[in-house]
Amino acid sequence: MVAEMTEKIKDLKSRKRAVILAHYYTRPEVQAVADFVGDSLALSIEAARTQADIIVFAGVYFMAETAKILSPTKKVLIPDPEAGCSLADSCGADDFAAFKKQHPEALVVSYVNTTAEIKALTDICCTSSNALEVIRSIPADREIIFAPDRNLGSWLKRQTGRENMILWNGACHVHEEFSLEGILALKAAHPEAPVLAHPECKEPILMVADFVGSTAAILDYAGRSSATEFIVVTESGILHEMNKKYPDKTFIPAPPVDSTCGCNDCAYMKLVTLEKIVAALETERPEVVVEESVRSAAERSIRAMLELNR
Ligand code: 13P
Ligand code: SF4
Repeated sequence: MVAEMTEKIKDLKSRKRAVILAHYYTRPEVQAVADFVGDSLALSIEAARTQADIIVFAGVYFMAETAKILSPTKKVLIPDPEAGCSLADSCGADDFAAFKKQHPEALVVSYVNTTAEIKALTDICCTSSNALEVIRSIPADREIIFAPDRNLGSWLKRQTGRENMILWNGACHVHEEFSLEGILALKAAHPEAPVLAHPECKEPILMVADFVGSTAAILDYAGRSSATEFIVVTESGILHEMNKKYPDKTFIPAPPVDSTCGCNDCAYMKLVTLEKIVAALETERPEVVVEESVRSAAERSIRAMLELNR
């Protein structure tokens, strides 16, 4: 069944001049059919430069929307439009516009995990891969609004020593759920294994981590480290790429507080299936559409981020 669908996707892709971009958190079989797999920064860069006519975005809605904002003349398809994001949902445009009004002097930095409307209200976007670089590029005396992730924002404040950052109170349901007790138990059982954590995790988790970084940075660290076992505190889809890249190393997923399976999945990312990719390619639907005035304003803040990464 998987093999059959994979063949069908290959055929549809070449006939329609389509490209599949997939995030590391999607299902292994979805990552396997993608032309490009990456973290949210790498996917934004790829979306901006692809020559394909159609982009099938195997990921969550804000990522597909970012691709459409950067490539407005291309058809961007999202296999399941219900694939949302608790972080993006935690920051509504009306509430955010009112919050911004309370701090008229502040520069707005938003994580890409936001809607197009929030990006349109933003001066510069960031991802977890370049958030430190973005904050450090802003003069130290300039007040900053950081949205929407309070954990990433607090981590950035601790890393940069900046007190003039005002944080929006949002969080990711996956990264907030990791169990400190569970991680400490894994550390006791595997004392040589470094703990690798995503900065969307809560502070007590980040305090016991040996390395804090984006999905791509975690992958890179695992490759460079001489350790052979790692405790991985981020969405468990990343284990597929880790095992593929470093087959001689062992990656142990950290457990969430309420867990029967021992790992932590983003339910939204797992909504993307091979069946839905086939249907999207066949029908060229559902298509991501962004109203032009919002799109052009949002593009400014994403391009400001991409300029820093040149
Ligand atoms: P990355 O920026 O590491 O890809 O993370 C995206 C995300 O959704 C984290 O939960
Ligand atoms: Fe959003 Fe969290 Fe899922 Fe990432 S893991 S897409 S931040 S809900």
